Amino acid sequence: MEIPVAAQTLLNRLPKGVTRRLESVLERLPVVGDLVRAEKKKVSDSMKASIRKHRPTELAFSELPETGVATEMLLGTLRELSAREAPMWRDGKVSGGVYHGDERHLAFLNEVYALYSQANPLHADVWPSVARFEADLVAFTAKLMGGDAKLENDEQVVCGTLSSGGTESIMLAMKAARDLMRTRKGITRGNIVAPASAHPAFDKAAHTLGLEIRRVEVQDDGRADVEAMKAAVDGNTIVMVGSAVSFPHGVLDPIETLSELAYEKGLLFHTDACLGGFILAFAADAGFPVPRFDFSLRGVTSMSADTHKFGYAAKGTSVVLYRGRALRRAQYFTTPEWSGGLYVTPGFAGSRPGALIAQAWATMVSLGREGYVRHTKSVLETARTIRRGIEAIPELKVIGDPLWVIAFRSEQVDVYRVLDEMAKRGWSLNGLQSPPAVHLCVTLRHTQPGVAETFLSDLRASVEAVRGTPPSKDGMAPVYGLASSLPFKGVVSDLLSAYVDALYDA
Ligand SMILES: Cc1ncc(COP(=O)(O)O)c(C=O)c1O
Repeated sequence: MEIPVAAQTLLNRLPKGVTRRLESVLERLPVVGDLVRAEKKKVSDSMKASIRKHRPTELAFSELPETGVATEMLLGTLRELSAREAPMWRDGKVSGGVYHGDERHLAFLNEVYALYSQANPLHADVWPSVARFEADLVAFTAKLMGGDAKLENDEQVVCGTLSSGGTESIMLAMKAARDLMRTRKGITRGNIVAPASAHPAFDKAAHTLGLEIRRVEVQDDGRADVEAMKAAVDGNTIVMVGSAVSFPHGVLDPIETLSELAYEKGLLFHTDACLGGFILAFAADAGFPVPRFDFSLRGVTSMSADTHKFGYAAKGTSVVLYRGRALRRAQYFTTPEWSGGLYVTPGFAGSRPGALIAQAWATMVSLGREGYVRHTKSVLETARTIRRGIEAIPELKVIGDPLWVIAFRSEQVDVYRVLDEMAKRGWSLNGLQSPPAVHLCVTLRHTQPGVAETFLSDLRASVEAVRGTPPSKDGMAPVYGLASSLPFKGVVSDLLSAYVDALYDA
């Protein structure tokens, strides 16, 4: 079904709620509804088939085996499977994903994990060392992010908790903002003002916590537009958001101006440093000075920084920080009347993996400041080489002024086809939209000898390959093309959910 461009543009401009209603009305019409359902089924079946094709078949059971499989055999198979999957991330072909990955570092983390595999910080009396590791991680990170966890002043002390990852840190910070602003200002239907580039975790938080999110278009360089952010604030705004750096284009929002604006308006301000915190904190010492983004700015009231990204720990930890104990208190959950006893948790989870806390602590302590500066220098230097190489390709244009997450777009070639060509050469890069673009998040994996050079020569070859050849029906190009041309985003959301269904049901 072809929709004329003018009608599509109009539909794309309609508020989300209106298009959703229109969509559900259309889906209820007998013929249109059948057509849409048939198309969705086709796409969902083909997703399932593709997932099945890539699923390993070793030790695949349709239900719990009646008798246990011998551990030696299990271990043998697991070794084979993980060894088969390792080359892609180990050899630096993946954007982001694995941030350290050095063999000796991983062996060390595994040893620490093994020592604490049974630990659960819910039982602080049983594992007091884990409780201390957790407090240390928060205090180390607070200091790195321009705060001081030892300050006596309850209003100004930078404190926080550990969480399971960037998304949980952001959701917790938004929950704390909601609850504090409800008590302090009586705001019951609060909103979050965030740049369009901020991570979807803010949408998830708003959706889950009954808040409204106001997404504000960013400038052409990918950075938040201060005037537009200001215009989006009203009497129900509880918190403003900026990224340091943003996931799509790896750029630093004007945090100094935005946080000052929030301060003057009596709002909270969250710096999302999930991706950037553990690089930016060491960038100046590595020879790459950056603007301020942290608690050294008086308007910044909360931050998220992921130990499981450039903190180089295994997946499963992040730090959420607050200016003042009252904001952190607003994050906690307490139940004084439960028949199971007195209950309190700092975050969303109940039981938590103490082993992940121990290995995150061991990572930070084993690297020390010197280790982080050394790694930051190596990531930023490699990224500079890659950025210059991309800029030298006439068909590609780097978005904004990024340091290590480098996004490029093109007016001459279909950038999603370049993404597909790179995939054929073994690369797993990220496709972006509005505008169509692709990014590479440089990690320590890309600092290995020859990786940057291979990336650039593969990129040149990929651009060459798409120039003057007709588009194919496979790969990501048609998917992104379809997603951006569909006026009804509900259909796209449905297909995304169908993808998750397929992962479980295939
Ligand atoms: C800027 C930013 N914020 C938040 C997140 C969410 O982190 P996680 O995937 O650990 O939940 C990411 C993830 O890439 C990110 O880049």
